[in-house]
Amino acid sequence: MAITARPLGATGLTVTRMGIGMAALGRPGYINLNHATDLGRDYAVDEMREHAWSVLDAAWAAGIRYYDAARSYGRSEEFLGAWLRARGNRPDDLVVGSKWGYTYTAGWKVEASQHEVKDHTLPVLQRQWQESRNALGRYLKLYQVHSATFDSGVLTNAEVLRELVHLKMEGVVIGLTLSGVAQGATLRSAMNIVVDGVRVFDCVQATWNLLEQSAGAALAEAHAAGMGVLVKEALANGRLTLRNHEPAFVEQRNLLVQEASKLNTTVDGLALAAVLAQPWADIVLSGAATVDQLYSNVRAFEYPVDAAAAAALAPLVETPQVYWATRAALAWN
Ligand SMILES: NC(=O)c1ccc[n+]([C@@H]2O[C@H](COP(=O)([O-])OP(=O)(O)OC[C@H]3O[C@@H](n4cnc5c(N)ncnc54)[C@H](OP(=O)(O)O)[C@@H]3O)[C@@H](O)[C@H]2O)c1
Repeated sequence: MAITARPLGATGLTVTRMGIGMAALGRPGYINLNHATDLGRDYAVDEMREHAWSVLDAAWAAGIRYYDAARSYGRSEEFLGAWLRARGNRPDDLVVGSKWGYTYTAGWKVEASQHEVKDHTLPVLQRQWQESRNALGRYLKLYQVHSATFDSGVLTNAEVLRELVHLKMEGVVIGLTLSGVAQGATLRSAMNIVVDGVRVFDCVQATWNLLEQSAGAALAEAHAAGMGVLVKEALANGRLTLRNHEPAFVEQRNLLVQEASKLNTTVDGLALAAVLAQPWADIVLSGAATVDQLYSNVRAFEYPVDAAAAAALAPLVETPQVYWATRAALAWN
């Protein structure tokens, strides 16, 4: 079982088709279903660093070479940068992407009145770029606007867009991440943003999975236009795993188990393989919170999801409205 690599769109970067995301590894609280259990409810910084490093070691050993962090994932950049240096990994051998636009405000607590504050203005970009560079140095090659939306104003903010082009001229790949029912429309708008004759965004990170596929056509267009495409939340924050015991999901769970056993893989492996089967998807992110989850996730490379399996899984698709309402109701834990 080999994790393959390919160009990240036309960015000039080569990436492994699976990456590891740090959202569940850099802070005590997150919205995935069983986050508190994964961390053993031990939130001491040293313990959390050790736990994150064990998952990073397992990902490296499995062949993963793309790492996804964000300023708002607590100490994710700090943990990742320290691990990369401690292991003596060379910047040329891997790609790190991070994100700006949310400031972490949970104060290392699981429950907080506000976990993160969104602000897509120039001072935040300038401050967070320096913070990200300090933590990640030359490992940092992709910098993404975190959850770009029409409402946040970032796509029409001339001074922010100019600064992003400035970073691009210095050799940083510029991307944006998307969330919510308007992912496709936001992407189509972002793809066409040009400043002084230069396209601003060369990468996109979006949600696409067996339940929410509404951005698929726009992601295919972005890829055809040379953008790199990263897929996040491929497991619908844990809903597409055996941990999902929601009474309303029993039928869907049975279908997943049945199709996974036909392919002799795990349910999460199946859901990740469904993303890998999309020709426009360069990277699918594993959000593994434990070493065992990581091992289970990489089984996505064992058996491809073919047309027959894709057809069998098609009834799982939800409307974007239902999907994003369900996601919004997930509790921090
Ligand atoms: N707007 C953005 O830019 C944005 C938003 C979200 C995520 N991301 C990126 O995408 C990455 C992945 O996203 P995500 O973690 O939110 O969603 P995800 O990949 O859909 O879900 C990951 C979760 O699934 C569960 N899981 C995985 N393997 C499992 C297994 N074998 N058995 C049981 N449960 C398993 C774990 O949750 P539990 O064990 O906790 O139940 C894990 O934390 C993040 O780390 C981050 O880098 C970016």
